[in-house]
Amino acid sequence: MKGIILAGGLGSRLNPLTKITNKHLLPVFDKPMIYYPIRCLVNAGITDIMIVTGGNSAGDFLRLLENGRDFDLKDLNYTYQKGEGGIAEALDLTEHFADDEPICVILGDNIIEKNINQAVEDFKAQGGGAKILLKQVEDPERFGVANLVDGKITSIEEKPKNPKSDLAVTGIYMYDNTVFDIIKTLKPSERGELEITDVNNAYIERGTMTWNKLDGWWTDAGTFESLMHAGNLVAKTGANNI
Ligand code: DAU
Repeated sequence: MKGIILAGGLGSRLNPLTKITNKHLLPVFDKPMIYYPIRCLVNAGITDIMIVTGGNSAGDFLRLLENGRDFDLKDLNYTYQKGEGGIAEALDLTEHFADDEPICVILGDNIIEKNINQAVEDFKAQGGGAKILLKQVEDPERFGVANLVDGKITSIEEKPKNPKSDLAVTGIYMYDNTVFDIIKTLKPSERGELEITDVNNAYIERGTMTWNKLDGWWTDAGTFESLMHAGNLVAKTGANNI
């Protein structure tokens, strides 16, 4: 299974912090943000990793991470997303790297307390389709929200005004290699992006989407409030065993 970290986009919600650097290089307590998703994959035994960078300071990822020495990796793979065409557009850039293998995708601004090891094992045993990780939150309208009937996901709504549940779709996704065929059928959303929620809904329609509950705390770090919250959580309990 290969690992993909999406760290493109322009981070405009964090302006002016992101005026001259990439959001994922900003500090979250005592480490650059990008360290946390890398550690999350490595802890789950996923060591063949591609990072999609973009926007400002893409070259700084190389200076910071080199070949992944801080994570005991042999090497790291990088690719570049021009502009901010959406999470699914960034993922599409990794098709050659995935090379028909299943993939575990994590958004570069998502930080978790514990690990995803059980979910990765469950997905491997599932033998195809997709898996997402859900987390109960107090502000579901900020996220993709899962609608469940009898424990099965029936649909996901992206940032709904009136969420039907409090289960947020976290930025950790597992897919078989048909994900790239799905992405090629997508049309840009109202915000002009290829949406990962549309990818997930395609798997739901096929009946091949499963989910696990994420253990421990989870946060994104893409707004001033969540960036500060993430730093405070990491300072208090640590994250991903680092
Ligand atoms: O954090 C989880 C949420 O992430 C999910 O619940 C939502 O369903 C999903 O759409 C996403 O929502 P956001 O609107 O918060 O995503 P954002 O635009 O902040 O992008 C999150 C990360 O994805 C960002 O840190 C880098 C990567 N990304 C994003 C875009 C728009 C890219 O690599 N390229 C892009 O073009």
